[in-house]
Amino acid sequence: MEVIDSPELARKYVTSLRSQGRTVGFVPTMGALHDGHLSLVEAARSCDFTVASIFVNPTQFGPNEDLETYPRTLQSDLESLEQCGVSAVFAPTAETMYPKGFSTYVSAPKIGDTLEGVCRPGHFRGVVTVVLKLFQALPVTHAYFGKKDYQQWRVIEAMTRDLSLGTEIIGCETVRESDGLAMSSRNQYLSQEERQRALLLSQSLAEVEKAYHAGERCVESLQHQMHSILTGQPVSADSHTETPLPSMGLDSVDYATIVAAQDLTPMESIDRPAVALIAGNVGTTRLIDNRELRPL
Ligand code: PAJ
Repeated sequence: MEVIDSPELARKYVTSLRSQGRTVGFVPTMGALHDGHLSLVEAARSCDFTVASIFVNPTQFGPNEDLETYPRTLQSDLESLEQCGVSAVFAPTAETMYPKGFSTYVSAPKIGDTLEGVCRPGHFRGVVTVVLKLFQALPVTHAYFGKKDYQQWRVIEAMTRDLSLGTEIIGCETVRESDGLAMSSRNQYLSQEERQRALLLSQSLAEVEKAYHAGERCVESLQHQMHSILTGQPVSADSHTETPLPSMGLDSVDYATIVAAQDLTPMESIDRPAVALIAGNVGTTRLIDNRELRPL
């Protein structure tokens, strides 16, 4: 496996494969890899060649976020990627990606204005800027993103379409721990007690999905149900779950909402594919999760 730190060499590598008519699948990451990331690599392996990137992108972190403490495990990440059959990894430094005097940013598409766009101002501007730069360094045919970051996936789809990049964007299902917690590099910040409460995210989504499949279509009432579970006040005594819910709620809920899956616009009744999205804090760790709601 080649480890490349310069955009010029990365571009040469991919361009030469493309000139031989090969498809190249790309998995951009910030490292601290877990099975969620590796599932994207697995999906990308349907292309002739698979490349990945590891870069903790400073421009997508807010001033009070965890850029300094974000886990960095480059050596073991490279080993995992090699084992998964990745042919090349682009792992640039911050100085290479943002040389002195850097001042050109991509503005995020409209679909990035809500939800994470409100809670993390400037986040998507940093994401689309770095993803465009990564696509420039690695002019691949296909790029793989996790639906775990649902809005990010939609934002990148929109950017790719709006800027006619020609890269095919593929959204992949969220990989979870056996108890339902969505895998995330940030889960390692959680204490044992917080890890228990973090289960409220996936549990409230499971409850909402259950209610949806039982015929509930009213967004207000489904959102109310999510909030009650997240704040530790389940709606009714007979709303039984397979695993008992932890007794305390999240420390804060940024949003727990249901919107149209395609464009993330609000809806009153679920009459088209929808997605339930949650963001909140457990202790000082901010977690997100979501679930698509579609007829069976
Ligand atoms: P990172 O958080 O490292 O995630 C890299 C990719 O892995 C993203 O597409 C993310 O959605 C996906 N992913 C994370 N957890 C997952 C899970 N449990 N199941 C499936 N996929 C999962 O997202 C970023 O990095 C950055 O914003 C990036 C796109 C690399 C730009 O800097």
